[in-house]
Amino acid sequence: MKIAVLSGSPKGELSVTLQYVKFIQKKFPQHDLKIFNVSQRIQRIEKDEKTFERIIDDVKTSDGVLWAFPLYILLVPAQYKRFIELIWERGAQGAFKGKYTAALSTSIHFFDHTAHNYMRAICDDLDMKFVESFSADMDDIFSEQMRTRLLMFADNFFKAIENKLPTMKSYTPLTYSKFRYVLGKVKDRVDTCGKRIVVVTDLKDNGSNLAKMVERFRESFSQDIDVVNLYDIDIKGGCLGCTECGFDNICVYEGKDEFIDFFNTRLRNADITIFAGAIKDRYLSARMKMSWDRGFFNGHIPIHEGKQMGFIVSGPLSQIPNLRQILEAEAEMHLANLVGIITDECGDSSQMDALLQNFANKCVQFSVENYIRPKTFLAVGGYKIFRDAIWARIRFPFLADYRFYRKHNLFDFPQKDKRYLDYSKQMFDLIKKPGMKEVVRKMIKTEMVKPYQRVVETK
Ligand SMILES: Cc1cc2nc3c(=O)[nH]c(=O)nc-3n(C[C@H](O)[C@H](O)[C@H](O)COP(=O)(O)O)c2cc1C
Repeated sequence: MKIAVLSGSPKGELSVTLQYVKFIQKKFPQHDLKIFNVSQRIQRIEKDEKTFERIIDDVKTSDGVLWAFPLYILLVPAQYKRFIELIWERGAQGAFKGKYTAALSTSIHFFDHTAHNYMRAICDDLDMKFVESFSADMDDIFSEQMRTRLLMFADNFFKAIENKLPTMKSYTPLTYSKFRYVLGKVKDRVDTCGKRIVVVTDLKDNGSNLAKMVERFRESFSQDIDVVNLYDIDIKGGCLGCTECGFDNICVYEGKDEFIDFFNTRLRNADITIFAGAIKDRYLSARMKMSWDRGFFNGHIPIHEGKQMGFIVSGPLSQIPNLRQILEAEAEMHLANLVGIITDECGDSSQMDALLQNFANKCVQFSVENYIRPKTFLAVGGYKIFRDAIWARIRFPFLADYRFYRKHNLFDFPQKDKRYLDYSKQMFDLIKKPGMKEVVRKMIKTEMVKPYQRVVETK
């Protein structure tokens, strides 16, 4: 069988993910896995339609398609996202329709589920027959058990194609509203109270709902705010995944384009950051994604800590809970307070005016009051993954992260949690005493709430 492998790492042949593909190829020599480094070659593919068409021709004549990609900032790399956008922009969906497909990724399991949800939804949108996904830890290939599982995944994929096994869709198609936002008059303007507000947008069409939403948000303030269109910034390309930045947060693009300057000045210094984008497939645009990927030169260091963040989104966000989760995680992982996500789904212009006005108000109010909501599982869980990884497996080459985590006491392993460890030891000793186990068991509920009640009474 012929399988078209759409390889998503900007590192091309030096990709870790690709070694998983090559391992499958070695163990299944009867099948022909044809590899296309679509992320690495994205600029060529964009410029030269023939290169794109050659890949699409191979997809057309293949028996199955394997999406093989690394996790980049909770999704696939921006270059891969761009390739996916081109499928629709160049009307190549037909080549994918009805093809058996599977998704294989490598990562450190930080939001691998959101990337896989995304890819699965894309396959459903392309009307493909999705068999399975396999989210490998990048080091799984060193384990015999995981290599066996990888081969089982591949075998299942090949068998599904050979035996024409039935598959199911997980996502329903998106429906877009025809609503056109008409800006109303601004009555009361919000004083920025000296807060620096930046809106980062990827808008292309000045007549779009997104453009009007950004405009209405800008007009809500008495003073000027900074609106940055990512298309006005010279960004030479996406993150190359080289991780040369790990030592000291210096990117290989330093001095070559304008992104790093934008990041270190306008973005880093803002008190309130709003990202404004229109939904493109099941995410925002590849341009927005590129800017988030390129921020990786700053490592795993949050840049919006204690600040306010929000999103203005045009498109059917309520139909894409996966994207909402990604946006929420973006804010939480940067230790920012998510003021809100405003969309144009209400379909009513005066309601849009009110929502954006209130949003502007809340941004400043929360910033002035230093209001930060508690983290949810997204950041609580996410930080534990980063903490453990930076402590050991990726301490090298991410030396700058290690220094930052040490300086800010982020290596808060529970082994050091003396208060709870001492308490547990005392209680273990107590219940070992004859007859005490049953006495203590019956006291758990009443004793547990007592310290909380004391706070309510005394504070
Ligand atoms: C820019 C960048 C962003 C990354 N983002 C994530 C992420 O969100 N979640 C994760 O688990 N790993 C993330 N990683 C780690 C890679 O997914 C992992 O190292 C992968 O194995 C790289 O595969 P490749 O060599 O095929 O590119 C990121 C790596 C880079 C360079």
